[in-house]
Amino acid sequence: MDVQNLTAEDAKAEHDRLVETIKAHDVAYYAEDAPAVSDAEYDRQRQDLLALEARFPELITADSPSQSVGVTPAKGFGKVRHKVPMLSLDNAFSSDDLREFEGRIRRFLGLDATEDVSFFAEPKIDGLSASLRYENGKFQQGATRGDGQEGEDITANLRSVTDLPLELSGAKTKVPDVFEIRGEVYMSKSDFLALNTAQAEAGGKIFANPRNAAAGSLRQLDYEITKSRKLRFFAYAWGEVSGLPGVTQSEVLTVFKDWGFSVNPLSKVCTNMEEAIDAYRKIEELRASLDYDIDGVVFKVNRLDWQERLGFVSRSPRWAIAHKFPAEQATTLVEDIEIQVGRTGALTPVARLLPVTVGGVVVSNATLHNEDEIKRKDVRKGDTVVIQRAGDVIPQVVEVVLDKRPDDSVPYDFPKTCPICGSHAVKEINESTGKEDAVRRCTGGLICRAQAVERLKHFVSRNAFDIEGLGTKLIETFYEDDLIKSPADIFTLEKCDAAPGNLQRIKNREGFGEKATRNLFDAIDDRREISLDRFIYALGIRHIGQGNARLLAKNYLSFANLRERLSEMGDASGEAYSELLNIDGIGAAVADAVTEFFHEERNQDMLDDLLREITIVDFELPAQDSAVAGKTVVFTGTLELMSRQEMKAKAESLGAKVSGSISAKTDYLVAGANAGSKLKKAADLGVSVLTEQEWLDLIGG
Ligand code: IVH
Repeated sequence: MDVQNLTAEDAKAEHDRLVETIKAHDVAYYAEDAPAVSDAEYDRQRQDLLALEARFPELITADSPSQSVGVTPAKGFGKVRHKVPMLSLDNAFSSDDLREFEGRIRRFLGLDATEDVSFFAEPKIDGLSASLRYENGKFQQGATRGDGQEGEDITANLRSVTDLPLELSGAKTKVPDVFEIRGEVYMSKSDFLALNTAQAEAGGKIFANPRNAAAGSLRQLDYEITKSRKLRFFAYAWGEVSGLPGVTQSEVLTVFKDWGFSVNPLSKVCTNMEEAIDAYRKIEELRASLDYDIDGVVFKVNRLDWQERLGFVSRSPRWAIAHKFPAEQATTLVEDIEIQVGRTGALTPVARLLPVTVGGVVVSNATLHNEDEIKRKDVRKGDTVVIQRAGDVIPQVVEVVLDKRPDDSVPYDFPKTCPICGSHAVKEINESTGKEDAVRRCTGGLICRAQAVERLKHFVSRNAFDIEGLGTKLIETFYEDDLIKSPADIFTLEKCDAAPGNLQRIKNREGFGEKATRNLFDAIDDRREISLDRFIYALGIRHIGQGNARLLAKNYLSFANLRERLSEMGDASGEAYSELLNIDGIGAAVADAVTEFFHEERNQDMLDDLLREITIVDFELPAQDSAVAGKTVVFTGTLELMSRQEMKAKAESLGAKVSGSISAKTDYLVAGANAGSKLKKAADLGVSVLTEQEWLDLIGG
């Protein structure tokens, strides 16, 4: 575009066009996590807009994208803390995985072979989950899932959803005082097609699939728009309730129907796992003929008392599993192979593809995972490949179509140095297996720009500090411009910006302005207090995902305690190290990564700087009033009254810490039959020894 030679009229038309396009990209990127164009293309459009506005300043309006840091439409929604977390589901990929799922349940509950386990099979609806709170039968509040702990208040928008009764009738069964109904908001395929046709005619946004259309419609700040887009709802679960109208999943769902909800008609009780596997096949056969998208089948243990006993592991219930349908595939060309460097230095090869549609979504990149994978599949530049996309996961290369390989093709030469910082990239030896790791890693640590930036992106991401408006793009720009080099810089950003003599104020930057800058500083201030588990996760230590972060938080309770124990920790034979390894679920790889992190001086300095700016809220153990809250217990011998797993899960749910070995810190040793050396050690250390029954009495059943 030659800005200099445009007439005022053409400039106005071009400005309108750019504003509209960029806004649509912003919504796709920030609100729907579904970027519609590449970063380079997006940047080019923004540059064009700025150039145009520099030449024709009269075109600058308050709502031009040049005046704001992206758009975060979600900002308009309040937050709702879920009283009962909204969980996700573990996945099964084959019938054998389903049989194993049943096996795990049997072992946990200690069932004998004669007892059947009934499952409730439900289609897995491809929409967005929502939680609807009813008080005295009236719809009070509706929320999105969010990160599972906290979602967005979308009450007003949910009111327009078909199949969502605003008042529960309860012809047969009385509605409890408090009842949170959970389920999936979705758009039917026919409504989706009609919406896209109308959007195309009006020059509006075209949605990639019904799920995106439902998401985009539900998160509209303008309630009238949501109302015009027919959204529907299937009920399949519940959150906080003051009573339950049944003793099985199927009974409760039948009552939901009586209360006026839609329950998926293909859902059914299967009296054993083979019947459940059969139900999966039948639902899969019907998939194409349904007027809504489903992406698998969910199996839930039908008995609610068993669901209760089975409880949860990390973020998903032990009593449910999703069996996804096979991934959709397509064939395309590898135009290039590039290397991305991640937060932990891993070099990930990515295939840049000739764009192709897979299951309704345009795919132009696919992961090749790591050096071993690319070698194993022998993927080369110029190859024709089969790719697949399953659910939300990054598309993968399945195989190379060898017949179509060009004659001059050469194997891919994996770099031995980091393409970003030039440091050596090495494959580590796994200490426990003695084998070389499949992943090659950059050894540059924080001197590697890619690692530093990726760590910062992780630090502000949704499940970590979750700083609104400080997204991946801004982190990159601020890193480049030396405004944010380490986590603490985020929290001193405003102070540094206001420092006398600073000639490059953020508000004067392109795309900012007074208001956007204020919003950014406020969003940062909003997050100066953080829970311990989120904080540990935010540090981005290798192997520490949300589950392990929670485990550490639960066991160390405060950051000061965790830091002191882990920083002191000598070698692998020390007490602090074995204390870490004793946390059930923490293995050697995790323990080593955590130790390494705290032994790195640069990390200690980073923490000192950061702790001056923020407050970490101690982990609160659930059920503090239970007799065993905060106590450490060790189980040994053969347990007869409950499976060991169930004993452990129960103890943890009451706030006790379960350890694998006895130390002076152990409060109780629960000894089953044939308890061995631990009994003697307990006696030596003066630890109370309980029988299984005594323990159950102590915890009240
Ligand atoms: S049960 C604790 N049932 O799948 C139970 N989820 O991968 C948690 N979903 O976030 C959910 N259909 O959005 C359940 N019949 C169904 C479902 C279903 C779709 C979605 C839901 C959930 C995700 C988990």
